[in-house]
Amino acid sequence: MTAQELRDSYINFFKQHGHSEIVSASLIPENDPTVLFTTAGMHPLVPYLLGETHPAGRRLVDCQKCLRTGDIDEVGDANHLTFFQMLGNWSLGDYFKRESITMSHAYLTEALGIPQDRISVTVFAGDESAPRDEESADIWKSLGYPAERIHYYGKNENWWGPAGVTGPCGPDTEIFYDTGKPACGEHCDPSCGCGKHVEIWNNVFMQYFKDAEGSFTPLKQKNVDTGLGLERVLCIMNGQPSVYGTEQFAPIIAAIERLTGTKYEAQTQRAYRVAADHLRSSVFILGDDKAVSPSNVDQGYILRRLIRRAYRYLSQMHAPAGAMAQIAEVIIAHYGADYPELERNRAFVLAQLRHEEEAFGKALEQGLRMANKYIDRAQSGRLAAEEAFRLYDTYGFPLELTVELANERGFSVDAEGFEKLFAAHQEKSRAGAAQKFKGGLADHSDATAKLHTATHLLNAALRKVLGDGVFQRGSNITPERLRFDFSFDRKMTPEEIAEVQRLVNVSIAAAAAIHCDEMTVEEAKESGAIGVFTDKYGERVKVYTMGGFSKEICGGPHAANTAELGSFKIQKEEASSAGVRRIKAVITG
Ligand code: ALA
Repeated sequence: MTAQELRDSYINFFKQHGHSEIVSASLIPENDPTVLFTTAGMHPLVPYLLGETHPAGRRLVDCQKCLRTGDIDEVGDANHLTFFQMLGNWSLGDYFKRESITMSHAYLTEALGIPQDRISVTVFAGDESAPRDEESADIWKSLGYPAERIHYYGKNENWWGPAGVTGPCGPDTEIFYDTGKPACGEHCDPSCGCGKHVEIWNNVFMQYFKDAEGSFTPLKQKNVDTGLGLERVLCIMNGQPSVYGTEQFAPIIAAIERLTGTKYEAQTQRAYRVAADHLRSSVFILGDDKAVSPSNVDQGYILRRLIRRAYRYLSQMHAPAGAMAQIAEVIIAHYGADYPELERNRAFVLAQLRHEEEAFGKALEQGLRMANKYIDRAQSGRLAAEEAFRLYDTYGFPLELTVELANERGFSVDAEGFEKLFAAHQEKSRAGAAQKFKGGLADHSDATAKLHTATHLLNAALRKVLGDGVFQRGSNITPERLRFDFSFDRKMTPEEIAEVQRLVNVSIAAAAAIHCDEMTVEEAKESGAIGVFTDKYGERVKVYTMGGFSKEICGGPHAANTAELGSFKIQKEEASSAGVRRIKAVITG
């Protein structure tokens, strides 16, 4: 079975059960300052889980690009990945536990033909915030699952979300596949982590909202949010012991073999897997329309770490110059049909990889010499935080790389001390990554709704002043300010900045009511709306109109009238990456 066949079978199964297909959102969350990457299919759906109506209906299905770096140290084993594809289906206040569990069971055992006796499930054991989930357990029993394959666990295992600090969440029921490996002991069960049981699907019953104080209150509606790991299921369907054995990785592994003249075997396996995973993730980040490039902050920093770690493993295997870009070509060729943005952004992806290789390639050798010197003289078996930080600051060594080098020689690193130095350094540039996680997922306060509304007016004003070649490339909003990235290839003049600011303030002063209409993508295009157009025929979207100033496809929270914005002020205009400018602005009053 190919990834394409698996994706089609999933989407079609849920379409037959009344779901509408939606397209994968960007890997970089829209208007969400609390997470760096989309880590689950539910991210783009948060407003709808909280009760807004979704234009495509109350039953949705999709395949979402996701990136998680929490398990980055596990990459290299059989199943862990940073980038992965999540198949998901949602009920937005429509069906609940019985239908959700029954459909999951039918999909796995009937559509995919997985033997039922290979499946174990887990349910929430209950605590002070929600009761023991006997309801789900009873549904599983009624479908023929014996009590010994239904396990009860607490919040750590069987509760999902919120994705940030606050947001929708709830108890879940997880589905595990028994690989057939021997049990690790008497108490081998889905929670033991020995690898016999692989988690494949998570059905979350999102019915609570967690607030900043940590209390749980019932949501307006009871939702279902599920996530099925495409790569893991593909691996099972093809009888592969590892996700790296599937067609999703075969061409990447073959390219590394060809370029390095080495073989993918027990000895090289880890280096191959890390390089393949990290480069695949890097290509998807660089290939996203949001145009993130390697840097020392935010998404750019994660990207830089992925690329540098991949580069180090490839250079250990004596890959020639330009190898990363060559492997990226293979990745784009393999994934480009399903993810056309990769083809669209091919030149950017390749140029950024070449550029990063050049920047880091020179420093790597020198840095390795320095690292070895520091390790030689480390007395306590532990590398000091200052030295790890110097390797970062001078040679661009991400912490993982230093830790890896030290570990290879039986040393450890004062990682906590490094993080402190790093945070102090980041603070100076006012971009602490920790800050990103404050405030919870998708802050829907009045302040952010107004700032978000202001980005529409800003986008329209920029196009008026600088021309129709200007397109939004990214947006990030905190309750204090907006940040807006757009395609434009030179610095704006002070006059242009003043004119854009004036136009936005004129639209605010006009006190225009803000209207929202639902229509198909084709109708939106015809009406002259700007925004991200997906290729999907007939998909319904929301179009926000603000007087005669702005008409844009969008899902985010908005003010009701432009007058609510008060007064708009541009604080900064600067370069973001090649061909992309960035504006920071505030509203007052
Ligand atoms: N949001 C749930 C998860 O990521 C489905 O596991």
